[in-house]
Amino acid sequence: EKGTYPHFMLKEIDEQPFVMRRIIQEYQDDDNNLKLDQDVRDAMKACDRIYIIAAGTSYHAGLVGKQFIEKLANVPVEVHVASEFSYNMPLLSEKPLFVFISQSGETADSRSVLVKIKELGHPALTITNVPGSTLSREANYTLNLYAGPEIAVASTKAYTAQMAVLAILAVDTAQAKELQLDFDPMQELAIVANAMEVLTDQKEAIEDLAKNYLATSRNAFFIGRSTDYYVCIEGALKLKEISYIQAEGFAGGELKHGTIALIEDGTPVIALATQSEVNYGIRSNVQEVEARGANAMVMSMKGLEQDTDAFVVPHVHELLTPLVSVVPLQLLAYYAALHRDCDVDKPRNLAKSVTVE
Ligand code: F6R
Repeated sequence: EKGTYPHFMLKEIDEQPFVMRRIIQEYQDDDNNLKLDQDVRDAMKACDRIYIIAAGTSYHAGLVGKQFIEKLANVPVEVHVASEFSYNMPLLSEKPLFVFISQSGETADSRSVLVKIKELGHPALTITNVPGSTLSREANYTLNLYAGPEIAVASTKAYTAQMAVLAILAVDTAQAKELQLDFDPMQELAIVANAMEVLTDQKEAIEDLAKNYLATSRNAFFIGRSTDYYVCIEGALKLKEISYIQAEGFAGGELKHGTIALIEDGTPVIALATQSEVNYGIRSNVQEVEARGANAMVMSMKGLEQDTDAFVVPHVHELLTPLVSVVPLQLLAYYAALHRDCDVDKPRNLAKSVTVE
């Protein structure tokens, strides 16, 4: 099933452009209009607040999804880690809609929230790669990710698929509410698919970065501001789960509030710079950590790049940068793990779907 690939993870990273194109196909009708079930549309239109519930990488996709839904569809969104939600249940709005994001559709932490909110009589939409899974069956509505089976424990193509479907959902809701938008999701996702292809063709460059920056380090930090920050925590999760390097994602502006104390001579710091609004801010953070000895590299987006940047991803719409900037981070984690002789597809202590709370 891996074909010529040494690992499922690498195969699944490479599949991302095709998954994007499949999503574009599946969510579009013959007249190029968005195609979503009317009852999903109605539920999105009827709610006054969305509560996204998810775990791990799916939670990280939810953080990006909040941006899409709030900015495009003008609906307030809260994003909650499933395992924490029940202890600290927020005051709910009058007409909440719960959106469960789960690759497997089997995550027990998310299911226990679903059971609870159903008891309260609230509607639920599940976004999953496995239609017919528990979370899909028990929710009122389902949106499919169309990513194909994801075998590697570390989630890659499901994450980018989740963000793509969330962008489509946000635009569909905006259209249902008759909001004027200057954003064609299918056109922009097609550009993303091409950009992903450019990135998956640059494996050698990223392998070199993994060797140069992460070969022997005990820890690594990812810094970013705004949307880049969400990709940083996903990049850090990928790196820690498969390479066992202690990795953390930090918001650039938070460094001076404590975490900069961790920077030592040679500490690897990976900075993302894909958002014009924060390009200046993140670059001054890079100078701050470099002044304290960090081995910093900047991954930027075309149009915002500087000569010294270690890697530049192709230009895509600013809302969708997470779908491309995560690809080099996935590959970075992959090669770091490979060079450390880790079991890339089956990291220690982890299961593909976590069916216990
Ligand atoms: C990380 C990873 C996990 C899952 C999490 C949720 O690479 O795979 O963090 O994202 O266990 O799983 P699902 O999406 O199946 O609910």
